[in-house]
Amino acid sequence: MSLIKASVVKISPSMMCADLSQLGAQLQILDEEGVDSFHFDIMDGHFVPNLALSPLIVRSLRPLSRKPFNVHLMVENPTLYLPDLYDIGVNCVTVHVETMGSSAFRILANIKTHGSKVGVALNPATPLNTVEYMLEQVDSVTIMTVDPGFAGQAFIWPMLNKIRALRALREQHGYNFEIEVDGSINAQTFGPVIKAGADVLVVGTSGLFSLDKDLRLAVRKLKAALQKEWAASKEQ
Ligand code: DX5
Ligand code: ZN
Repeated sequence: MSLIKASVVKISPSMMCADLSQLGAQLQILDEEGVDSFHFDIMDGHFVPNLALSPLIVRSLRPLSRKPFNVHLMVENPTLYLPDLYDIGVNCVTVHVETMGSSAFRILANIKTHGSKVGVALNPATPLNTVEYMLEQVDSVTIMTVDPGFAGQAFIWPMLNKIRALRALREQHGYNFEIEVDGSINAQTFGPVIKAGADVLVVGTSGLFSLDKDLRLAVRKLKAALQKEWAASKEQ
């Protein structure tokens, strides 16, 4: 049985890495080229030392695609952003466990009762056991494979063990969450993260947008790289 389930691995472009002067057109191209969902990074300059996209930008893009809009909140106070995201109709809200404080289960419940899927994200330095008691009720767990805040960083290889451990917990307890990986996910890391257990690949600069000036060709190069991994894994 192939370890690289290329046909079931999902692709989620990180839209902060797109050509922001053509954001709507790029989103439509990606939709037409068959990506599975869209990843929107929202930053407040406090939890991470950067700003990225905003609810206003996500709202402006919502009418352009029926595919899932997944928001990655890298903000000190995630509850401030939730009402807007519900009103926009995003499909999944992912909150960093480092920002949930003493309201973790209130935040998870709030997101779920407003009809959105709920995800939890962990910084590379954050141990898996911090989310252990949430795993039963989240729809996805995002393993950051770079420190959050910036695109174009180097992959943090010890995260493969964290992905493997998360998959083992899911199998051991029969949980249903998807494992998403976010940060320097590209042709060099596709194979290792998928073999370790990744279901959803967030692809940004190195994994997608830098592959070709023509975004359609870039998507096709990404798919070819995934197919190559799949074929290689079948031979093993
Ligand atoms: C970083 C973001 C990622 C990033 C991915 O904080 O969460 O989505 O944009 O970009 P690459 O793939 O270039 O690391
Ligand atoms: Zn992200």
